[in-house]
Amino acid sequence: MTMELVTGATGYVGRHLIERLSRAGRPVRALARDPTRVEERPGVEPAQGDLVSGEGLEDALQGCSTAYYLVHSMGADTDDFASRDRRAARNFTRAARAAGLERAVYLGGLVPAGGPRSVHLRSRLEVEQILLDGLPRSTALRASILIGAESSSFRILVRLVERLRILPFPAWRVHRTRPIAERDAVEYLALTPERPDTEGRSLDIAGPDAVSYGQMIERIADLLGVGRLPLPLKINQTPAASALVAAVTDQPRGLVRPLMESLEHDLLPRDDAAAAIYGLRPLGFGRAVERALADWERTEELAAR
Ligand SMILES: NC(=O)c1ccc[n+]([C@@H]2O[C@H](COP(=O)([O-])OP(=O)(O)OC[C@H]3O[C@@H](n4cnc5c(N)ncnc54)[C@H](OP(=O)(O)O)[C@@H]3O)[C@@H](O)[C@H]2O)c1
Repeated sequence: MTMELVTGATGYVGRHLIERLSRAGRPVRALARDPTRVEERPGVEPAQGDLVSGEGLEDALQGCSTAYYLVHSMGADTDDFASRDRRAARNFTRAARAAGLERAVYLGGLVPAGGPRSVHLRSRLEVEQILLDGLPRSTALRASILIGAESSSFRILVRLVERLRILPFPAWRVHRTRPIAERDAVEYLALTPERPDTEGRSLDIAGPDAVSYGQMIERIADLLGVGRLPLPLKINQTPAASALVAAVTDQPRGLVRPLMESLEHDLLPRDDAAAAIYGLRPLGFGRAVERALADWERTEELAAR
């Protein structure tokens, strides 16, 4: 088995993917800006590198057959995450070509019908295009919210339900998406290098249930066993609302605002080709939330329960 590079090794998806690859005995090089933060696991070798500056990338990519691209710059001090992410993807592609990398596997965002309208989803798509153009055998997987205890977008929803008795529901509450369980997203990523039929493709990955953001919040409240009073609003007011949400949920505003802007449209997969290609049966929304809340409570208390 050849070495696989995981970028974003300290991030939510990167950590769970490394755990999955290590369990399967696959050798991993784990790239991080601060490699001392990479969790110790059998077969996992930390490496230092920064995608935005380009430092350390070529060395880290040496001898790797596949590299997972699991990095974004939202939430950083600067508002200009899209230009940082453009630079990161270009640096990565250049270094990967120089190191002779065969393919990258990227996890980005679903794209609404008619094209991305938020800066966040435009940027995720731009990164996909840079990777597929520069490394044509790569695979891009597109997902909406990952349901997992450490997933920032899921944590925001849970913290809102936990901490607000009256829940303001902006106009975006009616838009629908198909969230995916953490287990399934990680499985799609881990299986991709073994699927030559996914080379050069962009595939949508999703759970089976289409739910509106309002329904998601109500379901989370049900599963937490709390009654919340919904307060439907006719407007979105994302700039002001994102400041409130960031304060209530303890998440950086630089992350909350771009994520909230992406709720202003339905975010549904183009098709279900991925499930058939990979032979996976993704978990339903309720089951995914139950698992995530149980994982959450293994390490942190949920005040609402
Ligand atoms: N979570 C979701 O619900 C979800 C849904 C759909 C798609 N995705 C996609 O999945 C990917 C990973 O997301 P995530 O949720 O795992 O994000 P995350 O937890 O915020 O992790 C982001 C990672 O990027 C790293 N990073 C940032 N700037 C870097 C740089 N200049 N050089 C090297 N590494 C850098 C961070 O390292 P530091 O620790 O050093 O900051 C961190 O490890 C993204 O492409 C995201 O769009 C996530």
